[in-house]
Amino acid sequence: MKSLERIGVSLEKELLSDFDKLIKKQGYQSRSEALRDLIRHQLSEQTIENPKTRAIAAIVLVYDHHAAKVMQKLTALQHNHLLETISSMHVHMDSHDCMEIIVLKGTVGDIKKMGEEIVSIKGVKLGKVNLVESHSTHSH
Ligand code: NI
Repeated sequence: MKSLERIGVSLEKELLSDFDKLIKKQGYQSRSEALRDLIRHQLSEQTIENPKTRAIAAIVLVYDHHAAKVMQKLTALQHNHLLETISSMHVHMDSHDCMEIIVLKGTVGDIKKMGEEIVSIKGVKLGKVNLVESHSTHSH
């Protein structure tokens, strides 16, 4: 474990009480644990705003499979881009709609650009890009 440092935090009673209620509901065992997660979340949010940050993204989209050539356009986009597609999954939702989940990695800037192109394909009803910062060295 990394060395820990203790800090003191001053909070209004009401704010602290609201915080305690929130983290209890979320299942946290301690305030320290909840605070660490909050700080990590904020830091990662800030990093992910930088277009040069390397990231992994799950692009989730829903489209009508009757719409012309959505699949072909999606495949062409994935082949054309410099982004590395890691995986993709297709789910038949009902008689009309399909869900496609595309997992890829690259820079935040490139991923967002591709996300916008995907969402603007005619026939795509819904599209969402979920980004997670990717660390180049990873050890298990
Ligand atoms: Ni389908």
